[in-house]
Amino acid sequence: MEVIIKKTKEEASQKAFEIIKEEMENGAEVLGLATGSTPEKLYDIMVASDVDFSNMVSVNLDEYVGLAPEDPQSYHYFMQEHLFNQKPFKETYVPDGLATDEEEETARYEGILKEHPIDVQILGVGTNGHIGFNEPGSSFDSVTRKVKLVQSTIDSNKRYFEKEEDVPKYAYSMGIKSIMRAKKVLLMAFGENKAEAVKGLVGGPVTEDLPGSVLQQHPDAVILLDEDAASLL
Ligand code: F6R
Repeated sequence: MEVIIKKTKEEASQKAFEIIKEEMENGAEVLGLATGSTPEKLYDIMVASDVDFSNMVSVNLDEYVGLAPEDPQSYHYFMQEHLFNQKPFKETYVPDGLATDEEEETARYEGILKEHPIDVQILGVGTNGHIGFNEPGSSFDSVTRKVKLVQSTIDSNKRYFEKEEDVPKYAYSMGIKSIMRAKKVLLMAFGENKAEAVKGLVGGPVTEDLPGSVLQQHPDAVILLDEDAASLL
């Protein structure tokens, strides 16, 4: 695990962009993408760049169960707004939040991952150490499945919704095993509220209680932090 600390979120996001660009120059074709506030700056940088993504495939980590792609709170919508509308990709995949047959949808998504093995996986981390929506206690053997969000995740995510009742309670998420199959993982974390999770992720025991700690076992994981997120290291 390589830990890179930059003064600001902007500098760390720029570094993430440079790593992605270099991987693309070396043949990477599939990007694993995340949503949320953490990768927003990276996506701004990608959009402002002259890099062509039209031969790239993207596979997103997760989607809320019950939200349609055109719902402004959905992760489909987030990706369109922040990246795909401005920078077209060859193919983009996000789990189908409206899928009612859980088994069929999760098998479909694992099939996509098999067909398009991820070269570089972008990750954020929850204050509770989750990656994707693999909450504490998730098995390191987990693959794509329907997950129940824990209260702390609902609390963090309610800032995007009008009322707490509107925050979905379930999501489809790639599993920890699905994430660990990526050739390279780039996890970013910014701000003081991530410092505790980062401390455990980087230096604590590898435990299912802190899902991000599994990255200590990944052969090529880069952890990109701003100074606040790194303040407890
Ligand atoms: C998003 C995702 C989540 C977020 C995490 C941090 O696709 O899978 O694991 O990366 O909840 O969220 P932010 O970046 O909003 O702090």
